[in-house]
Amino acid sequence: MAEQPSLPSMRVDGQVAVVTGGGSGLGRAMAKGLSEAGAAVAVADLPKMLPGAEETAQAIRAAGGTAYAVPLNVKEQASIDAMVAAVLKESGRIDILVNNAGVNIPREALDVSEQDWDNVVDVNLKGVFFTSQAVGRVMVKQKSGRIVNIASQNGLVGYYKRAAYCSSKAGVVNLTRVLALEWAPHGINVNAIGPTFIVTPLTQSTFDDENMRADLLKRIPLGRVGQPEDVVGACVFLCSPAASLITGHTLMVDGGWTIL
Ligand SMILES: NC(=O)c1ccc[n+]([C@@H]2O[C@H](COP(=O)([O-])OP(=O)(O)OC[C@H]3O[C@@H](n4cnc5c(N)ncnc54)[C@H](O)[C@@H]3O)[C@@H](O)[C@H]2O)c1
Repeated sequence: MAEQPSLPSMRVDGQVAVVTGGGSGLGRAMAKGLSEAGAAVAVADLPKMLPGAEETAQAIRAAGGTAYAVPLNVKEQASIDAMVAAVLKESGRIDILVNNAGVNIPREALDVSEQDWDNVVDVNLKGVFFTSQAVGRVMVKQKSGRIVNIASQNGLVGYYKRAAYCSSKAGVVNLTRVLALEWAPHGINVNAIGPTFIVTPLTQSTFDDENMRADLLKRIPLGRVGQPEDVVGACVFLCSPAASLITGHTLMVDGGWTIL
Protein backbone atom coordinates (compact mmCIF):
# COMPACT_ATOMS: atom_id res chain seq x y z
CA MET A 1 0.00 0.00 0.00
CA ALA A 2 1.28 3.48 -0.89
CA GLU A 3 2.40 5.61 2.07
CA GLN A 4 0.27 8.66 2.95
CA PRO A 5 2.13 11.86 1.98
CA SER A 6 3.62 13.67 4.98
CA LEU A 7 3.11 17.17 3.60
CA PRO A 8 -0.53 18.24 4.06
CA SER A 9 -2.09 20.20 1.23
CA MET A 10 -1.63 23.96 1.06
CA ARG A 11 -4.41 24.25 -1.52
CA VAL A 12 -7.96 25.45 -1.05
CA ASP A 13 -9.52 23.95 -4.17
CA GLY A 14 -13.28 24.43 -4.55
CA GLN A 15 -13.58 26.75 -1.56
CA VAL A 16 -15.28 30.13 -1.53
CA ALA A 17 -13.27 33.04 -0.08
CA VAL A 18 -14.30 36.59 0.80
CA VAL A 19 -11.48 39.15 0.91
CA THR A 20 -12.50 42.52 2.36
CA GLY A 21 -10.67 45.56 1.01
CA GLY A 22 -9.70 43.38 -1.97
CA GLY A 23 -9.54 46.28 -4.40
CA SER A 24 -6.06 47.42 -3.37
CA GLY A 25 -2.74 46.52 -1.73
CA LEU A 26 -2.56 43.44 0.46
CA GLY A 27 -6.18 42.49 -0.23
CA ARG A 28 -5.61 42.32 -3.97
CA ALA A 29 -2.47 40.17 -3.54
CA MET A 30 -4.20 37.77 -1.13
CA ALA A 31 -7.30 37.50 -3.37
CA LYS A 32 -5.06 36.53 -6.28
CA GLY A 33 -3.06 34.10 -4.12
CA LEU A 34 -6.19 32.38 -2.81
CA SER A 35 -7.39 32.01 -6.38
CA GLU A 36 -4.05 30.51 -7.43
CA ALA A 37 -4.50 28.06 -4.54
CA GLY A 38 -7.90 27.01 -5.92
CA ALA A 39 -10.57 29.22 -4.28
CA ALA A 40 -13.36 31.23 -5.91
CA VAL A 41 -12.98 34.77 -4.56
CA ALA A 42 -15.53 37.45 -3.70
CA VAL A 43 -13.56 40.69 -3.78
CA ALA A 44 -15.37 43.03 -1.38
CA ASP A 45 -14.64 46.74 -1.15
CA LEU A 46 -16.22 50.14 -0.58
CA PRO A 47 -18.69 51.19 -3.30
CA LYS A 48 -16.24 53.96 -4.34
CA MET A 49 -13.47 51.31 -4.66
CA LEU A 50 -15.57 48.91 -6.75
CA PRO A 51 -13.49 49.65 -9.89
CA GLY A 52 -10.44 48.49 -7.90
CA ALA A 53 -12.29 45.37 -6.72
CA GLU A 54 -13.42 44.69 -10.28
CA GLU A 55 -9.80 45.08 -11.47
CA THR A 56 -8.71 42.42 -8.94
CA ALA A 57 -11.54 40.12 -10.03
CA GLN A 58 -10.73 40.64 -13.69
CA ALA A 59 -7.05 39.81 -13.15
CA ILE A 60 -8.13 36.58 -11.45
CA ARG A 61 -10.54 35.68 -14.24
CA ALA A 62 -7.88 36.49 -16.87
CA ALA A 63 -5.62 33.95 -15.14
CA GLY A 64 -8.39 31.30 -15.35
CA GLY A 65 -9.82 31.69 -11.83
CA THR A 66 -13.28 32.56 -10.54
CA ALA A 67 -13.86 35.96 -8.94
CA TYR A 68 -16.38 38.76 -8.71
CA ALA A 69 -16.60 42.15 -6.99
CA VAL A 70 -19.08 42.89 -4.17
CA PRO A 71 -19.77 46.24 -2.48
CA LEU A 72 -19.04 46.37 1.25
CA ASN A 73 -18.65 49.02 3.91
CA VAL A 74 -17.49 47.19 7.05
CA LYS A 75 -18.64 50.16 9.16
CA GLU A 76 -22.28 49.40 8.34
CA GLN A 77 -24.08 46.31 9.56
CA ALA A 78 -26.63 46.47 6.71
CA SER A 79 -23.81 46.55 4.16
CA ILE A 80 -22.12 43.52 5.78
CA ASP A 81 -25.42 41.59 5.69
CA ALA A 82 -25.96 42.55 2.04
CA MET A 83 -22.42 41.38 1.14
CA VAL A 84 -22.96 38.01 2.86
CA ALA A 85 -26.33 37.60 1.09
CA ALA A 86 -24.76 38.45 -2.28
CA VAL A 87 -21.94 35.92 -1.84
CA LEU A 88 -24.35 33.19 -0.70
CA LYS A 89 -26.55 33.91 -3.72
CA GLU A 90 -23.60 33.72 -6.12
CA SER A 91 -21.52 30.94 -4.52
CA GLY A 92 -23.79 29.15 -2.01
CA ARG A 93 -21.29 29.11 0.87
CA ILE A 94 -18.36 30.92 2.51
CA ASP A 95 -15.33 28.83 3.53
CA ILE A 96 -12.74 31.56 4.00
CA LEU A 97 -12.99 35.13 5.27
CA VAL A 98 -9.97 37.44 5.09
CA ASN A 99 -10.68 40.54 7.17
CA ASN A 100 -8.27 42.84 5.40
CA ALA A 101 -10.14 46.18 5.03
CA GLY A 102 -8.32 48.76 7.09
CA VAL A 103 -7.46 52.45 7.37
CA ASN A 104 -4.93 54.63 9.12
CA ILE A 105 -4.90 58.35 9.85
CA PRO A 106 -1.29 59.03 10.92
CA ARG A 107 -1.40 61.81 13.51
CA GLU A 108 0.43 62.78 16.71
CA ALA A 109 -1.55 61.59 19.75
CA LEU A 110 -2.09 65.21 20.86
CA ASP A 111 -3.81 65.99 17.55
CA VAL A 112 -6.12 62.97 17.21
CA SER A 113 -9.79 64.04 17.03
CA GLU A 114 -12.73 61.95 18.17
CA GLN A 115 -13.69 61.56 14.50
CA ASP A 116 -10.18 60.28 13.58
CA TRP A 117 -10.33 57.78 16.42
CA ASP A 118 -13.82 56.55 15.49
CA ASN A 119 -12.93 56.23 11.79
CA VAL A 120 -9.89 54.07 12.45
CA VAL A 121 -11.36 51.91 15.20
CA ASP A 122 -14.71 51.47 13.44
CA VAL A 123 -13.09 50.05 10.31
CA ASN A 124 -10.13 48.18 11.80
CA LEU A 125 -11.72 46.64 14.90
CA LYS A 126 -15.51 46.99 14.91
CA GLY A 127 -15.59 46.14 11.20
CA VAL A 128 -13.52 42.98 11.74
CA PHE A 129 -15.82 41.89 14.55
CA PHE A 130 -19.16 42.41 12.79
CA THR A 131 -17.96 40.98 9.47
CA SER A 132 -16.67 37.93 11.37
CA GLN A 133 -19.97 37.65 13.24
CA ALA A 134 -22.07 37.72 10.04
CA VAL A 135 -19.82 35.25 8.20
CA GLY A 136 -19.34 33.23 11.41
CA ARG A 137 -23.09 32.54 11.46
CA VAL A 138 -22.77 31.00 7.98
CA MET A 139 -19.67 29.00 8.96
CA VAL A 140 -21.30 27.69 12.15
CA LYS A 141 -24.13 26.26 10.02
CA GLN A 142 -21.54 24.75 7.64
CA LYS A 143 -19.57 23.40 10.65
CA SER A 144 -16.33 24.61 9.07
CA GLY A 145 -14.48 27.76 8.09
CA ARG A 146 -11.26 29.75 8.21
CA ILE A 147 -11.00 33.38 9.23
CA VAL A 148 -7.77 35.34 8.76
CA ASN A 149 -7.62 38.80 10.31
CA ILE A 150 -5.03 41.21 8.95
CA ALA A 151 -3.70 42.75 12.14
CA SER A 152 -0.24 44.37 12.09
CA GLN A 153 3.10 44.32 13.85
CA ASN A 154 1.58 47.49 15.32
CA GLY A 155 -0.81 45.26 17.23
CA LEU A 156 2.18 44.10 19.31
CA VAL A 157 4.42 47.19 19.42
CA GLY A 158 3.84 50.93 19.46
CA TYR A 159 4.84 53.31 16.69
CA TYR A 160 4.68 57.08 16.18
CA LYS A 161 1.44 58.75 14.99
CA ARG A 162 -0.57 55.58 15.46
CA ALA A 163 -2.52 55.83 18.75
CA ALA A 164 -5.81 54.70 17.22
CA TYR A 165 -4.22 52.36 14.66
CA CYS A 166 -2.05 50.48 17.19
CA SER A 167 -5.00 50.25 19.59
CA SER A 168 -7.26 48.86 16.89
CA LYS A 169 -4.70 46.28 15.74
CA ALA A 170 -3.95 45.17 19.32
CA GLY A 171 -7.70 44.70 19.64
CA VAL A 172 -7.69 42.51 16.51
CA VAL A 173 -4.91 40.32 17.95
CA ASN A 174 -6.94 39.58 21.09
CA LEU A 175 -10.29 39.42 19.29
CA THR A 176 -8.69 36.68 17.16
CA ARG A 177 -8.09 34.64 20.33
CA VAL A 178 -11.67 35.09 21.59
CA LEU A 179 -13.28 34.10 18.28
CA ALA A 180 -10.88 31.14 17.97
CA LEU A 181 -11.95 29.94 21.41
CA GLU A 182 -15.69 30.41 20.91
CA TRP A 183 -15.83 28.96 17.41
CA ALA A 184 -13.37 26.05 17.75
CA PRO A 185 -16.26 23.66 18.60
CA HIS A 186 -17.84 24.62 15.25
CA GLY A 187 -14.80 23.66 13.20
CA ILE A 188 -13.80 27.27 12.55
CA ASN A 189 -10.15 28.33 12.83
CA VAL A 190 -9.51 32.03 13.46
CA ASN A 191 -5.99 33.40 13.04
CA ALA A 192 -4.31 36.71 12.28
CA ILE A 193 -1.31 37.99 10.37
CA GLY A 194 0.95 40.78 11.64
CA PRO A 195 2.71 42.39 8.67
CA THR A 196 5.47 44.96 8.98
CA PHE A 197 5.41 48.05 6.74
CA ILE A 198 4.34 47.01 3.25
CA VAL A 199 4.44 49.25 0.18
CA THR A 200 0.77 50.10 -0.57
CA PRO A 201 -1.35 53.28 -0.88
CA LEU A 202 -1.92 53.06 2.91
CA THR A 203 1.75 53.60 3.74
CA GLN A 204 2.62 56.09 1.00
CA SER A 205 2.73 59.09 3.36
CA THR A 206 4.99 57.22 5.79
CA PHE A 207 7.42 56.21 3.05
CA ASP A 208 7.35 59.79 1.69
CA ASP A 209 8.67 61.01 5.07
CA GLU A 210 12.45 60.54 4.84
CA ASN A 211 12.99 60.41 8.61
CA MET A 212 10.30 57.82 9.10
CA ARG A 213 11.54 55.70 6.22
CA ALA A 214 15.05 55.65 7.67
CA ASP A 215 13.73 54.95 11.18
CA LEU A 216 11.54 52.04 10.20
CA LEU A 217 14.19 50.40 8.01
CA LYS A 218 16.54 50.42 11.02
CA ARG A 219 13.97 48.39 12.96
CA ILE A 220 13.65 45.53 10.45
CA PRO A 221 16.47 42.99 10.99
CA LEU A 222 15.93 41.48 7.52
CA GLY A 223 16.65 44.95 6.15
CA ARG A 224 13.70 45.65 3.87
CA VAL A 225 10.06 46.64 3.97
CA GLY A 226 7.49 44.29 2.45
CA GLN A 227 5.66 44.01 -0.84
CA PRO A 228 2.00 42.86 -0.80
CA GLU A 229 3.10 39.43 -2.09
CA ASP A 230 5.11 38.89 1.12
CA VAL A 231 1.84 38.35 3.00
CA VAL A 232 0.23 35.91 0.54
CA GLY A 233 2.01 32.72 1.67
CA ALA A 234 0.97 33.24 5.31
CA CYS A 235 -2.62 33.88 4.26
CA VAL A 236 -2.97 30.84 1.99
CA PHE A 237 -1.20 28.64 4.56
CA LEU A 238 -3.59 29.67 7.36
CA CYS A 239 -6.58 28.89 5.09
CA SER A 240 -5.24 25.49 3.99
CA PRO A 241 -5.39 21.96 5.42
CA ALA A 242 -1.72 22.38 6.44
CA ALA A 243 -2.86 24.79 9.20
CA SER A 244 -5.82 22.77 10.47
CA LEU A 245 -4.52 22.59 14.08
CA ILE A 246 -3.57 26.26 14.27
CA THR A 247 -6.06 28.68 15.80
CA GLY A 248 -5.97 31.92 17.80
CA HIS A 249 -2.46 32.63 16.52
CA THR A 250 -0.99 35.82 15.05
CA LEU A 251 1.63 34.96 12.46
CA MET A 252 4.14 37.81 12.17
CA VAL A 253 5.37 38.70 8.67
CA ASP A 254 7.57 41.48 9.97
CA GLY A 255 11.16 40.85 8.87
CA GLY A 256 11.97 40.43 12.56
CA TRP A 257 10.76 43.85 13.82
CA THR A 258 9.01 42.39 16.88
CA ILE A 259 12.01 40.24 17.92
CA LEU A 260 13.76 43.29 19.32
N1 LIG B 1 0.56 48.41 4.23
C1 LIG B 1 1.10 48.12 5.42
O1 LIG B 1 2.23 48.51 5.74
C2 LIG B 1 0.33 47.31 6.41
C3 LIG B 1 1.03 46.76 7.50
C4 LIG B 1 0.34 46.01 8.44
C5 LIG B 1 -1.01 45.80 8.28
N2 LIG B 1 -1.68 46.35 7.21
C6 LIG B 1 -3.10 46.12 7.10
O2 LIG B 1 -3.38 45.48 5.88
C7 LIG B 1 -4.70 45.82 5.47
C8 LIG B 1 -4.68 46.30 4.03
O3 LIG B 1 -3.91 47.47 3.97
P1 LIG B 1 -3.22 48.00 2.63
O4 LIG B 1 -1.88 48.47 3.02
O5 LIG B 1 -3.38 47.03 1.54
O6 LIG B 1 -4.09 49.32 2.38
P2 LIG B 1 -4.88 49.87 1.10
O7 LIG B 1 -5.28 51.25 1.46
O8 LIG B 1 -4.08 49.64 -0.14
O9 LIG B 1 -6.15 48.92 1.05
C9 LIG B 1 -7.15 48.95 2.04
C10 LIG B 1 -8.45 48.56 1.40
O10 LIG B 1 -9.46 48.57 2.43
C11 LIG B 1 -10.61 49.19 1.88
N3 LIG B 1 -11.46 49.77 2.92
C12 LIG B 1 -11.22 50.85 3.69
N4 LIG B 1 -12.27 51.12 4.48
C13 LIG B 1 -13.21 50.19 4.19
C14 LIG B 1 -14.52 49.94 4.66
N5 LIG B 1 -15.09 50.76 5.58
N6 LIG B 1 -15.20 48.89 4.17
C15 LIG B 1 -14.64 48.09 3.23
N7 LIG B 1 -13.41 48.27 2.72
C16 LIG B 1 -12.70 49.32 3.21
C17 LIG B 1 -10.04 50.28 0.96
O11 LIG B 1 -11.02 50.74 0.03
C18 LIG B 1 -8.88 49.56 0.32
O12 LIG B 1 -9.25 48.86 -0.85
C19 LIG B 1 -5.20 46.86 6.47
O13 LIG B 1 -6.00 46.23 7.47
C20 LIG B 1 -3.93 47.39 7.07
O14 LIG B 1 -4.12 47.94 8.35
C21 LIG B 1 -1.03 47.09 6.26
